[in-house]
Amino acid sequence: MQTSDDTFAIIGLGEVGLRLAIALVDSDYSVTGVDIDDTRVEELRAGNSYIQDIPSEEIERIHGRDFSVTTSYEDLRSASYFAVCVPTPLQKAGQPDISYVVAAVESLVPILTSGDTVIIESTVYPGATEDLIAPIIEDEGFEIGSDIHLAFSPERIDPNNEEYTLAEIPKVIGGATPECATRVEAVYSEIFEDIVHVNSTTEAEMTKILENTFRNVNIALVNELVKVADNLNIDFWTVIEAAKTKPYGFMPFYPGPGLGGHCIPVDPLYLSWTARQNGLKTPLIDLADKTNREMSEYVVTRTMRHLNEFGTPLSGASVLVLGVTYKPDVPDVRNSPGVDIIDHLEDHNADVSYHDPYIKTVEVPGQGEYESETLDAEILSRTDCVVIVADHSAYDFEWIASQAPLVFDTRNATAQLEDNSIRRL
Ligand SMILES: NC(=O)c1ccc[n+]([C@@H]2O[C@H](COP(=O)([O-])OP(=O)(O)OC[C@H]3O[C@@H](n4cnc5c(N)ncnc54)[C@H](O)[C@@H]3O)[C@@H](O)[C@H]2O)c1
Repeated sequence: MQTSDDTFAIIGLGEVGLRLAIALVDSDYSVTGVDIDDTRVEELRAGNSYIQDIPSEEIERIHGRDFSVTTSYEDLRSASYFAVCVPTPLQKAGQPDISYVVAAVESLVPILTSGDTVIIESTVYPGATEDLIAPIIEDEGFEIGSDIHLAFSPERIDPNNEEYTLAEIPKVIGGATPECATRVEAVYSEIFEDIVHVNSTTEAEMTKILENTFRNVNIALVNELVKVADNLNIDFWTVIEAAKTKPYGFMPFYPGPGLGGHCIPVDPLYLSWTARQNGLKTPLIDLADKTNREMSEYVVTRTMRHLNEFGTPLSGASVLVLGVTYKPDVPDVRNSPGVDIIDHLEDHNADVSYHDPYIKTVEVPGQGEYESETLDAEILSRTDCVVIVADHSAYDFEWIASQAPLVFDTRNATAQLEDNSIRRL
């Protein structure tokens, strides 16, 4: 049960933080969220959501309960639990950028008081909580485990996945001490249906990165094999469907135009970086990363080949990219292969345009800004090739294939269609 001092502060009100805030308020906790982005805080104060799969009604609903937002850490003083949910991207050279986490914890320590609990939810490299975060707290004169409780508890949500709600995804907790883990469990067991304990913050950090590295490497495998299958005239999608009928020992992964978003392409590089710091190599992770990154070029090579079937060179051909987000029905172009594909098509002097119901304009580094086209019969019929990159549910692929002279489908979105204009990855 909630005790009177169980007030919660959420640091970073993005996809992860906002969702956690809602779950806590719904479990009758008093929650204050802080974000350095004034616009986001203003939007939340006005009852508006900026996260696609969190409706504004959810924000209005929790405003009616014990929820407030601020840009000032000072307003978090009364909290006893602090969950850090700030971004952890890559630096330009591919190293982990955990400066946001460090900055958040540095802002936090002046307002901590003995007895408080700090939970790191942002994905960090194995060892970061112990080696980097704990010393910031200790430098303020606190002892971890007696004054301040510290834990790492990775967020495992999958945006737009309606099958698993936040509560249904088991919550992994690794405490700096067993008592730290117990403190976190006391609150999280009210929100999450299952709690999974590991022995340390480092084990919890590694758990999160293992999950996403597993996914990255397996996607690389099918991305490699789809090229082999194409060469052998094998429909690889049918092969995957057949293989997944095996009741054990096989899990389906699907090829595609490349990885995107802020987790699957990023997290394995946190691990390979950590390995390098310790004098170890991770050739499998490095090769998987390379294989997945090269898919956007492969998509362009295949587009070229299919255009050649119609006697049309890619140079000068009009190509319409359908969907530039990294996954369907999510308005997120971070690390999206759609952006890379536009870039590579431009490098081949194609006449490139795009349509995406979620993204009005997109910046393609080195090429400039593009505006989403209107998707109608006119543009489809005058386009030499339509390349399906994000298979948004709003798309009527049967109609698209009936209007366009050539469709290159990188997502198997047209699996049920028989149309001579379709080529599949
Ligand atoms: N989004 C996901 O699906 C997902 C899933 C699992 C794990 N994660 C991990 O969770 C973490 C957060 O991801 P996200 O998608 O919510 O990020 P996000 O970019 O959507 O939101 C992060 C928020 O933190 C704010 N912020 C940055 N620095 C701050 C600071 N010093 N103080 C207060 N606020 C600050 C930003 O303004 C932003 O609003 C990342 O480590 C990510 O890898 C994300």
